[in-house]
Amino acid sequence: MTIQGTTKICALIGDPVEHSLSPCIHNAAFQHLKLDYVYVAFQVRREELAKTIQGVRSLKIHALNVTMPLKVDVIQYLDRVDDVVKMVGAVNTILNDEGSLIGYNTDGKGALMALKANNESPADKKIVILGAGGASRAISYSLAEETREIMILNRTLEKAESLVKDLSSKFGNKVRSGKLCRNLLRKELTEADLLINATSLGMHPNEDKTPVKKNLLRPDLPVFDLVYDPLETRLLMEAKSVGAKTIEGLAMLVYQGAASFEIWTGKKAPIQVMLEAAQEKIEAPKSGIV
Ligand code: ATR
Repeated sequence: MTIQGTTKICALIGDPVEHSLSPCIHNAAFQHLKLDYVYVAFQVRREELAKTIQGVRSLKIHALNVTMPLKVDVIQYLDRVDDVVKMVGAVNTILNDEGSLIGYNTDGKGALMALKANNESPADKKIVILGAGGASRAISYSLAEETREIMILNRTLEKAESLVKDLSSKFGNKVRSGKLCRNLLRKELTEADLLINATSLGMHPNEDKTPVKKNLLRPDLPVFDLVYDPLETRLLMEAKSVGAKTIEGLAMLVYQGAASFEIWTGKKAPIQVMLEAAQEKIEAPKSGIV
């Protein structure tokens, strides 16, 4: 890669960012397609956000990814946001379109692409989604457009209810909510065609945790876990052990990145290259020399 006067800069902003896989995924894609782009990561604290966005405008940085804790706060500094952001209330992708900053949220599209790439089209399914945080909001919206029925179960019932209320204006009563508890899980999973974990349960350093006990899983219930650290969560391991199909969260990470890449470059993302770059980075020894 040659950095030169014309090189377009894409950056991740958030805190922390140093262990993000995004620089690796995007730079691999830019190099593969020989695009004059580079991707870097900037640690930005909440109180530095306004100045950071001024800096993006004055330095004419081409594009951003936005991660925790800035996904919601950043909206007030943008010129426009797309319909998904209006519903989800969070931005993970920004394009600097000749001085106009436009916000997008590609998480939902990423989840949808990951499912389809694994031959799990959501069409005509009943999907149980666990969690009602930012990730769940984004995927519920995208999936509701394509599926028959969605049940959102969350530890804090009010959050699931509020999400369903927001979705109901567009999707009517095909999206419902409930409390994430054993009895309701048992009932809802009996009728489900797909289970998606959008809670943080099972994420490093709590690898021993799982949102669903093994005895509620079954061979004909595919499981998609959005957690990607570890790559194979306890939930996925147990789903696999009962014979169910599993989809790892890394797929979602790569596909949401691919959707951002396409917004920034107008080119089709080289998915396989991005996936391999992410896998390589994850498998590399965490020695700091990666
Ligand atoms: P993200 O942006 O990744 O969605 P988030 O907005 O903080 O992160 O949401 C985290 C989700 O994981 C929430 O649905 C949260 O449930 P609550 O709304 O009740 O907080 C869920 N979650 C986190 N820890 C959990 C736990 N120990 N048990 C059950 N759900 C949990």
